[in-house]
Amino acid sequence: MSATPLPETTAAARKARPRPALFGITLADWLRIAVHIGALIPLALLLWDGAHNHLTANPIQEITFRTGKTAIILLILSLLCTPLNILFGWKVVLPLRRPLGLYAFFYVCLHLLIFSVLDYGLDWGLIQQTIAEKRYVLVGFAAFLLLLPLALTSTKGWMRRLGKRWKQLHRLVYLAAFLAVVHFVWLVKSDIREPLLYGAALAVLLLLRLAPLRRAIVRVRSRPAR
Ligand code: HEM
Repeated sequence: MSATPLPETTAAARKARPRPALFGITLADWLRIAVHIGALIPLALLLWDGAHNHLTANPIQEITFRTGKTAIILLILSLLCTPLNILFGWKVVLPLRRPLGLYAFFYVCLHLLIFSVLDYGLDWGLIQQTIAEKRYVLVGFAAFLLLLPLALTSTKGWMRRLGKRWKQLHRLVYLAAFLAVVHFVWLVKSDIREPLLYGAALAVLLLLRLAPLRRAIVRVRSRPAR
């Protein structure tokens, strides 16, 4: 009989195998479940409040606000995953980027749908005029146009087809998020603290991705503890 250990029993294979976290479900799966539930809660609340007439005296504006806010938060959360891996080595959060980004895009689509169907009654002339006249609508629209190809090419098939260019294309998400923040800053009438907070979060996340800083962080992190 051979003394070679079975592949499953080698240290490398044990390390690669996902460890069950709770109730036999891995941490990665728990996180994925949490993302799906968390991202669908705002939609559930919207439907619930709509069904119970709890959408303020101006329901269209309330839905526009809520979908817009959810979209920007999910977009920033999707951008948080890579820096979390850089800072703490939490590789387990990396697969969450895709669902978070796609949910963000889903809320952007709802946001745009409410704006064009409920608010503007699909009056294309008026919609075009508003896009041209209101700068916050114009940048919001630009953010949507940037997110569209990213959502469409988010599949494994497109990743394979585009190769290196996929990564380059998906860097546009930072520009889309920046435009979304500008959209928010320009539409608020007085208190711009909240949109600026999103802007600051975005700036920090972008900074953490810069190669020299990223390399320095990884170097410090991988230094053996004394
Ligand atoms: C076609 C593109 C878009 C259009 C036409 C649009 C339109 C609007 C409108 C009309 C409002 C409400 C303004 C008001 O009543 O004062 C709004 C608010 C908002 N939008 Fe958009 N938007 C677009 C894209 C986006 C995108 C891509 C995001 C984020 C990813 C976004 C995030 C927000 C946020 C955060 C608010 C404010 C929410 C609040 O005040 O609580 N929008 N948008």
